[in-house]
Amino acid sequence: MPPAVARMDTPKGEGVCLTEGMDAIQALRSKRDTRSYSDAPVSADVLDKLLDAARMAGSAKNGQPIRLVVVTDAEDREALKASGDYAAWLDRPPIVVVVTARADAGPRRMFDVGRHAQNLMVAAHAEGLASCPVTIHHPEVVRALLGVPADIEPAMIVTLGWPGEPEGPSPVSGPRVAMSDYVSSGRWS
Ligand SMILES: Cc1cc2nc3c(=O)[nH]c(=O)nc-3n(C[C@H](O)[C@H](O)[C@H](O)COP(=O)(O)O)c2cc1C
Repeated sequence: MPPAVARMDTPKGEGVCLTEGMDAIQALRSKRDTRSYSDAPVSADVLDKLLDAARMAGSAKNGQPIRLVVVTDAEDREALKASGDYAAWLDRPPIVVVVTARADAGPRRMFDVGRHAQNLMVAAHAEGLASCPVTIHHPEVVRALLGVPADIEPAMIVTLGWPGEPEGPSPVSGPRVAMSDYVSSGRWS
């Protein structure tokens, strides 16, 4: 039985494919950003699986400038509300992951941040957990609280937890652009 998830340390050509749980396309298409969480605890095993899926994301020149800080303490989550202009709900998710990048990692480091954050969120979704990205507008708040050194950039937050009561659509949620608008063929149009 092949493993459920393709891993980079699997030799190429071994034909590893998704065999269990949600298929990758289904996971990518159905993931919604969710700000409603239940109090149900997330086990260390599940959390480790998600963090490991994030770790396996690629990075420019394989520079691997991304590191994560996992925050579960209630007072710390409360304090992190001040890190963003749209972060007033950060006390609700049981797990707040701060995605950091080495500040000297070059202009592609935010692409790397996005890849790691998306891996984390899609893995969470595949396991049935809710997640949402949150912008850090005030990195100094994160630095002071978590002791992030000057050469490390607090880049983005990802919240995690089991989903709570269904929430109404966020004011900025909405359908995606049509494929005909999204994709041009051969030339920009
Ligand atoms: C770069 C980025 C920054 C975001 N920042 C925030 C944020 O600060 N606070 C928040 O509540 N949601 C934030 N979001 C979540 C967006 O509001 C969400 O992706 C959008 O509403 C679409 O949601 P949907 O995928 O559920 O349709 C952010 C999303 C992205 C991609």
